[in-house]
Parts: sequence; C-alpha cells; structure tokens
Amino acid sequence: MSEPLRFDGRVVLVTGAGGGLGRTYALAFAERGASVVVNDLGGDIKGHGKSSSAADKVVEEIRARGGKAVANYDSVEAGEKLVQAALDAFGRIDILINNAGILRDRSFTRISDEDWDIIHRVHLKGSFLVTRAAWNHMKNQKFGRIIMTSSAAGIYGNFGQANYSAAKLGLLGLANTLAIEGRKYNIHCNTIAPTAGSRLTQTVMPQDLLDAFKPEYVAPLVLWLCHESCQENSGLFEVGAGWIGKLRWERSLGAILRQKNLAMTPEAVRDEWEKICDFSNANKPRTIQESVSILNDVLSQIESQDVSPNPTSYSASGSSAGFDPTRSIGQKLPPFSYEYTHLQPILYALGVGMSTKDPDHLKFLFEGSEGFCCLPTFGVIPAQSSMISGGLSNIPGLNIDFTKVLHGEQYLELYKPMPTSGKLTSEATIADILDKGSGAVILLDVHTYSGKDLLCYNQFSVFVVGAGGFGGKRTSEKAKITVNPPNRPPDAVATDTTTVDQAALYRLSGDWNPLHIDPNFAALGGFQKPILHGLCSFGFAARHVLKYFADNDVTKFKAIKIRFAKPVFPGQTLQTEMWKEGNRIHIQTKVKETGSVAIAGAYVDLASSSEQLVAKEPSAKVVELQSDLVFQEIGRRIKEEGNQLVKKVNAVFQWNITKDDKTAVQWTIDLKNGSGELYQGPARGKADTVFTLSDEDFLGLVLGKINPQKVHRINAAISKHLLLSGLCNIRFSSWIFKKW
Ligand code: NAI
Repeated sequence: MSEPLRFDGRVVLVTGAGGGLGRTYALAFAERGASVVVNDLGGDIKGHGKSSSAADKVVEEIRARGGKAVANYDSVEAGEKLVQAALDAFGRIDILINNAGILRDRSFTRISDEDWDIIHRVHLKGSFLVTRAAWNHMKNQKFGRIIMTSSAAGIYGNFGQANYSAAKLGLLGLANTLAIEGRKYNIHCNTIAPTAGSRLTQTVMPQDLLDAFKPEYVAPLVLWLCHESCQENSGLFEVGAGWIGKLRWERSLGAILRQKNLAMTPEAVRDEWEKICDFSNANKPRTIQESVSILNDVLSQIESQDVSPNPTSYSASGSSAGFDPTRSIGQKLPPFSYEYTHLQPILYALGVGMSTKDPDHLKFLFEGSEGFCCLPTFGVIPAQSSMISGGLSNIPGLNIDFTKVLHGEQYLELYKPMPTSGKLTSEATIADILDKGSGAVILLDVHTYSGKDLLCYNQFSVFVVGAGGFGGKRTSEKAKITVNPPNRPPDAVATDTTTVDQAALYRLSGDWNPLHIDPNFAALGGFQKPILHGLCSFGFAARHVLKYFADNDVTKFKAIKIRFAKPVFPGQTLQTEMWKEGNRIHIQTKVKETGSVAIAGAYVDLASSSEQLVAKEPSAKVVELQSDLVFQEIGRRIKEEGNQLVKKVNAVFQWNITKDDKTAVQWTIDLKNGSGELYQGPARGKADTVFTLSDEDFLGLVLGKINPQKVHRINAAISKHLLLSGLCNIRFSSWIFKKW
C-alpha cells in the first residue's frame, strides 16, 4: 500500500470547525499529525449569538484522541486574530480551511440589506480577511494550502438563496486569482462545493439523506488538496456521498457577427443565436489568456474579410467545425510580397546580436563595406509575413484555436544567398497535417521567390495543442526532421549575451507580437516577463555556425533545422554547442544562466565547395548599380589611406547616381573630416562638390570609356569645384578614375 498522507509538523486553521464539515476536517487533520486551530463563533445558523462551547468540544475530542488542538472563538470577520491564534499556539500557519458559514435564505425580494450583508461578511469577506492574514506567512515559508468553500447554490443558483449564491460564487473568483498569485510561492488555492448532512442542511434534507451524506465523505478531498504532495491548484470540485467530480468552463465555438467596415446589429445576433449557443466542438479555456486570445483571431479574420454586400457569419475558429486534413492539405495561403532595402538585413543582423565590436560583422552591418551581405537566416523574414498576416485562419478544414498554437520547429533552405535588397514573393502551402494525439502539427511550406528565381524554402511546424485525435497519421515524409547531436563533447562552443532590448530590436524585423515586449501581455501568457522571439535565438545559433565553421561566408550556408524547446528571456546568455559531422554541423543552444536547452535537435548543413551558392542576377534586385562596386573600392582605399587623402584633398564630394533619370543612390566621400569616410546618402554637412551622373556614365568614366569633359554635368560640377577647392580635387577625381 502506498504511504499514508501525513501532516506532522503542519499547522491547520479550520474556520467554523465547531460542528458539521469543519469539525470533521479538524478531527481528520489532527488524526494525521497536524496541529489544529479549531475556530468557531458558536452562533446559530442565521449568525445570531456566540458561544465558546462548540470549538471547545471539538478541541477536547481531538485531545482525547491524542491530537494537538487549540480553540479560537472569534468571528472570521476578525481575520488577523484567528491567524494570530495559530502563531501563538504553534508558531506558524500552513493550511487554511475557509469553512465557516451561515444561512439567511429568503426569496429574492424579501432579502433585507442585513440579510445580504451578513452573508457576504461571513462567507466572502470573512474568507478574504482570514486568508489575507495568513498569506504573507505562507509566502515567506514558500508553502501554503487554502480551501474555499463554495456551494452548488452558487454554481447553479438555487431558489431562495440569492445572497448566499452570490457570496459562494464570489469565493470561486477569489480562489481563482489567489491560485495565480500564490503559484510561485507554492501556495495552492482550491475550491469545493460540498454536500453533507449538517445543521445547515437539516431543514432542507430528509433524515435518511442527512445520515447518508456524511461529512466524512467530504473530508478526504480536503485533506488531499492540502497535502504538500498535491499539485492541484485552482481546481473546483463537487463532493459528497463518497463521490468527487471536477468542474471546468466550457465555451461554444461561437460566431463572428461583425463584418469589416459594417455595423454589428442585434438582428445578426438573433440570426446566429443557434450557432452562438452550439456546444458541439466546444472549447474549454483554462486561463484568461486562453479565453481572450481568440479575440486576436477574430480581429484578423474580420480584417482579412473581403467586404461583400451580403453579410454572413464566420465561425470563430475557422470556416468549418472540426479538423479536416483532407480539406486543408494542399491549400495555399494568399501570396505575400515583401519589398526591402539594405536597411532590413542590417536591422535583422542587429536583431540577432551582430555588433560592430566584431570586425567580421561589419559586412552584415554596413552597406558600404566590402562584400556587404545578408545573413542567410534573414530568409525566414519574408516567409513569416504570410503567417503573421493571419492567413492560416482562412484555410478550410483548419479549425485552429489560436490560443493553443505554438511555433514548434523551423526549417530553412537557401538556393541563392539572400539579396541585400529586393522585392520578394512568398507562396505558402499546407504541406501536411499530423495527428500527434496531444495535438496536431501543421506543416506549412513557404517558397520565396525573387522574380521567377526560387531563393529559399521554409517549413514552419505549427503545433496546435489539444487538436489531435482526429485519426490522422503521426508522421509525414514531407516533414523536415530534427536530428540529435553526436554523443561526445562539442567541437566548438559559442557564447553570446543577448541584451535586455534584444526582443525590442528583433521585433522591428516584422514580428510584432506584444508577447515579446509588453510585460502585461507576457504576464497574460503566463511568463514573468516578455520572452525573446524563438526565431531570434535561431538567428543567434545560425550565425554562431556561420562564424565558426563557414568563415562568415554566406554562400556556404545551405540549410538549417531547429526545434524550439524552451523560452529565452532578453538579457540571458545563449551558448551554442556545435559538432561537425561532414558538412553537417549539429547544434544545441542552451541558456547559460539556467542550463536549460532552448534549441534542440538542430543542425546546419553547409554547402560543399562545389555546391556553394551563387549570388542572384543583379537585375533581380530593386536597384542594383554598377557604381556600387566602385564606391566599395573607394571606401576600402579611404580606410587604407584616409589620413593622407584628407590632408591632400580637404573636400567633401557628394555623388548623385541616377538610373532611368531618377536618383538611385547618393554617396558621400568625405575627405575633409577625421581620417576620411565614405557613406551612403547626402553629405552630412555641406558638400564642396556635388556630381550628378548616371550609373552607366559613372562606370564609363571609371573605365576611361567616357571623357569627363564630355559629360555635361560632370564638366559643370568640376568647373565649379575647381573654383572651390583648387586642383587637388581634380587629382582626387583622377585618382578615382585612374584606379579603374
Ligand atoms: P455548520 O453550520 O454545521 O457549520 C458551520 C460552522 O460555522 C458553525 O459551527 C458555525 O458556528 C460556524 N460559524 C458561523 N459563522 C461564523 C463566524 N462568523 N465565524 C466563525 N465561525 C462561524 O454547516 P456545514 O454544513 O458544516 O457548513 C460548512 C460550510 O460548508 C459552510 O460554508 C457552508 O455554506 C458550506 N456548504 C455546506 C453544504 C452542506 O451540504 N452541508 C452545501 C454547500 C456548502
């Protein structure tokens, strides 16, 4: 037989323990080793009068059986005094059973103010006051078990008990919040709705039922819920006659009655009433987060509606009830386009922790640097847009409860290096749907193109908790699977501390979920503070591999697969362990401070030298200029010879490079300040000379194919420049041109 549940060393306060249920609890706790404070005001069932005899009698009974108990005769309205009695007698308080109760039953209109108030004072306010007095003691000792006594009258209503029902259900609300606030201090709060023969029920129950519904059939539940080994918290139980059942909330799938840009009407509510009240496939939200998160889905569904002249209603969880893979697999989300300049790859690189502190990082952070390029994992950014815009909610047969959605895994494969700017299009398809029992996995394949060129492929694995059990297959040949690392110490370990603003920075790349920045929103999600985006940690891990095994050469990066195992908080340190096995680098990323594995089963596949990725055709970029290369070379020269050039030239040149008669880019060559600088954009101060010429003419000049004097605007500019700065500037221009 398993170990009996003991309460040795525990101090229990039972209110209203002079009779009925409370007495039975007090005896049972004492019998199992607890020290008990037997509280009872000793009045009648309507709350009139007081006496010490009820509590004393129970204390005597306990002591006669060899147990430890003291009496307390205060009303629960004097909360502090009851707890003080426990501290005075036994030095602590571990368990509190809020049980004291009276009745003032009357049909609704006959309830006096006094009837209303005293019921609330004894049941609801009394429980609040005693619990508040005990709370800090429990918090400090990191242990507490609290029971609230509700009633079926509160849960379901009962004729003649409006005051009592209101107070009794108020206790459930109180318990639900205390369960949340107490959780981290190991204070659990549960609620019971008992049925037992007692003096409170003797006027409404026949004698045979009074005898049958013994308080001894309720006490075992109370003892179990209060034991240190019981992890139940926030539960609501009906209990009586030897039976115990748990209650929870159920919510219909409901209906969306509002259409984009149209008013919501009571007629729409009337017309959809059946659907609003239909409990088939109902949800069972357990937390306020689960409850309210459906509203995001509702908003995105409304936002994505095509406004039609005939409003219809939409299911809040998809266009059809149930999860029907046969209807969803192969469905496409609307294509999504993503246009960007060099700004986004730089912002992304900063978001995944790149810094100018590392000279190797400059080529990801400075558009004017030699070999400026885009991190391979930037490939998730255009692809995720199709998901973030709420496309999944419109797929037929995908009855997703968005409160239950987790980003489980990510796969990214590159066919070309990601361009540093461009206009890309992503096409997303439901590749497969798996039934994992505890949930469903949706595999979303996203192909991203530049023009007709396929740039990259992403597979998002979206886990929908609780959506399994629809009889689907467990695995899919389409799934990119995770692989465990070899069983040996890693070949390399990279450590990087994220900043407290890492998520605030990363989100600027397009994932605006407030979970990553808003403490209140994060708290609603059950997190102590905002968490880092999984794809941000993914970016960190990927660039660790890129640095250690690919020399930061993006053309060597072929694919990455990752499983998100645990959340990371901004400011924590990521430690990526890496194992090289041929062209595959296995990775595992841990949070250094806690040792927990944040990224698991992960790997990066590097290209063999013959497979190295080739950059896209320049034409595929939004604006790809031949002059860029020349300016990069100028930047390099300035770095080498800047000091000397500044001394010689002492001028600032601004170049407006045009394409199709429009300024495509501006470059400034500053050979006046500091040790010289090249940067994109107009001169920060005043330019001594501004050159405006087309990209083709610029290259023609550099290659010596065009005579500068024949290019009208150059000619004018140089003439003006001669006046301003003297011949040395010409020398600089010829230096540029001679070089090429
Ligand atoms: P009971 O009347 O036998 O026990 C209640 C005890 O609370 C009494 O000994 C009374 O003196 C004491 N009390 C009343 N006001 C007090 C105050 N201000 N301060 C300290 N003690 C006070 O009744 P029973 O049935 O044992 O009820 C226990 C709890 O269970 C009550 O909260 C009641 O509302 C609840 N309940 C009982 C049900 C049943 O079937 N017996 C059904 C649903 C709820």
